Amino acid sequence: MDKKSLLDDLIKNYKLKHNKSEALFAKASQYQIRGGSHSLRLFDPFPFYDVQCSGSKVLDADGNTYVDFWQGHFANVLGHNPKIVINALLDYLQKSQGLATGFPGNYQRELAELILSQIGADKIRFTTSGTLATMYAIMLAKAFTKRDLVIKVGGGWHGAHPYALKGITVYDHGLHQLESAGLPSGTDSMIVMTRFNDMEDLEEKFREHGERIACFVLEPFIGAGGFIFSRKDYLQKARELTQQYNSLLIFDEVVSGFRFHAGGLQSIYAIKPDLTVLGKAIGGGMPVSAVVGRDDVMVLCSPEAKPDQKVKFEGGTFSAHPASMLAGLTYIKYLMENESEIYPRIGQLGAKIRNGIEEIFTAHGFNVKCTGYGELLPDNSSCVGVQFLQEKIDRITFPEQVWNPEVSDLELREKIFKLAMLEEGFNIFHGFGAVSAVHTESEIQASLDAVERIAKKWKKY
Ligand SMILES: Cc1ncc(COP(=O)(O)O)c(C=O)c1O
Repeated sequence: MDKKSLLDDLIKNYKLKHNKSEALFAKASQYQIRGGSHSLRLFDPFPFYDVQCSGSKVLDADGNTYVDFWQGHFANVLGHNPKIVINALLDYLQKSQGLATGFPGNYQRELAELILSQIGADKIRFTTSGTLATMYAIMLAKAFTKRDLVIKVGGGWHGAHPYALKGITVYDHGLHQLESAGLPSGTDSMIVMTRFNDMEDLEEKFREHGERIACFVLEPFIGAGGFIFSRKDYLQKARELTQQYNSLLIFDEVVSGFRFHAGGLQSIYAIKPDLTVLGKAIGGGMPVSAVVGRDDVMVLCSPEAKPDQKVKFEGGTFSAHPASMLAGLTYIKYLMENESEIYPRIGQLGAKIRNGIEEIFTAHGFNVKCTGYGELLPDNSSCVGVQFLQEKIDRITFPEQVWNPEVSDLELREKIFKLAMLEEGFNIFHGFGAVSAVHTESEIQASLDAVERIAKKWKKY
């Protein structure tokens, strides 16, 4: 396949349909780095701008409409701007309430209680991003254990803070490089890398560093690392080893929390971490994140903590922001009340897309595997990753297979397939994305029809 001419044609066609966005990009780039503030939203040749989003759809400045599977970084389980949240916020604002006040507002107690009941933990503290919450969780673990080392998995993304900026996407005989400048000295040796789903490697790392390990932090469903679920025995091993070495186990459920059922993935696995980090869906479209966990660990951010163990997880002008708490509460309640309708449906649609895409590409002679299969979930998972493979692999089980260019063709996934699907009217991410409650059966079928046309076309290049 001549990928260069395929990409050139796709870019040419994209530009023809996005004149206004191109002008807006030029303007935005005068003031903002690459024309925006989050690199994942800034794809080449330029993103579409000034969108209006509703349900499954996105309308851009040029009047193009897309069915969206990106859905707010996979957070929008109920689609874009769900009426229940919009109405609750309108009502609150109409009462001249909802903006930041600097007081403990009305809704955080209720949201705290709901989240704790669904996750099954003792205490919660809110903050505003997954990045901050994972940073605080790791600080709590370091203070609790009075140890320094953090184990993280290759491909794990926990936000951009010094305890997690290693081994994310840059492949060099593995995922183990620091991926940012400006980090405190010693960061490299403080973060010990291990391979996701690899029990032997984890055991080895604990054998080697056990007495110095404060925590093992991982996503039970790895998101940016390729939409891969943990093996159950791997999480059991992680629980055993952390207990054996008196380290803490932290589950980053920023993506997986409330994505597969109205709670954490940990209850599906029946494995309880010491701390859990939540974000994305728990804010109902507003910036809310939280650390939840054991009383004796969470207490370290209270005045009762001993001075040498007290963690300054206590600031945040916008922590537990009133409108955000109401949005989160409305959302979580809705997910709980409608759990039995929402999750089986979106899980089955996810499976339909994964099976469909694999079948279509295979029939046209391409080596494609989908990730996101949730074998432990009763109704499978709503997340779909598409990996264009350079070699035959039965099942992708760890992120190195996704980020190693000799194994997966990322240019095909991130640039070519992305633009090809946009041309067909579908906005995808990391190969596809997440099904939300608002996606219809006919949209799912139409997306598979689009994949069929694309696979046919690619054979001509
Ligand atoms: C698993 C995981 N943890 C943490 C983060 C960071 O969250 P935020 O972008 O809200 O800072 C993300 C963001 O995508 C994530 O996927």
